[in-house]
Amino acid sequence: MIFDILTLFPEMFLSPLKESIIGKACEEGVITVNLTNIRDYAEGRHRVTDDYPYGGGKGMIMKPEPIIRGIKAIRSRHPEAWVILMTPQGNPLRQEVAKRLAHVSHIILVCGRYEGVDERVRDVVDEEISIGDYVLTGGEPAALVVIDAVSRLIPGVLGDKDSSEEDSFSQGLLEYPQYTRPREFEGRKVPEVLLSGDHQTIEQWRRRESLRRTCERRPDLLTDAELSKEDQAFCDELKGASGTRGKIGRPR
Ligand code: 6GU
Repeated sequence: MIFDILTLFPEMFLSPLKESIIGKACEEGVITVNLTNIRDYAEGRHRVTDDYPYGGGKGMIMKPEPIIRGIKAIRSRHPEAWVILMTPQGNPLRQEVAKRLAHVSHIILVCGRYEGVDERVRDVVDEEISIGDYVLTGGEPAALVVIDAVSRLIPGVLGDKDSSEEDSFSQGLLEYPQYTRPREFEGRKVPEVLLSGDHQTIEQWRRRESLRRTCERRPDLLTDAELSKEDQAFCDELKGASGTRGKIGRPR
């Protein structure tokens, strides 16, 4: 899998891509990340990449020519590359989007600054992606999020031990609570069922805790989750009991 990044700030990617699981995947060549400075495609002595907005208004807009020349240069070498513009106006990144992109062999991520890019850049990209409903100063952290979310789905990036199949979201539900040693910490005990060695009961407890968490925190996810009759019955039970419990947050 190859990622090409077009950015005004290539150095923002260096240290994040060196660390941990993604760092190892880069080192082993399972993923390749090429960084291109958009400024390299700007013209004139000052290599200007932005300009004032027509019609007035605050902020600067990224000029179309350097970005489009950069995209075309990479595409001429890799005609199959899929071009994504990182923008808060894009398609929200979800696990299904990451899964689809994990099957693409070459992705070009174009990082815009938050004031925006000239509208004509949109004509040459294949897709626009946002990582959520908040505003970043630029698309760079969002591009790192895409690289991370997509890369961990590529075979050979995660070890078998931390396979992505049981993740939160891959099942459409939030993850159940997890514990490790010690059995008791500051008076707070690990749930007895997890120490029982009874795998069937543990599986049932985990499924129910996933459902409970999803009902409480992200009921919007339940509409798309695959629920068995038993799951559905447990959710109905939870709804019946709701209002008798506290809301999310620190215990008061
Ligand atoms: Cl992709 N870019 C910027 N600038 N802000 C964002 C974003 C992207 N996704 C969410 N907020």
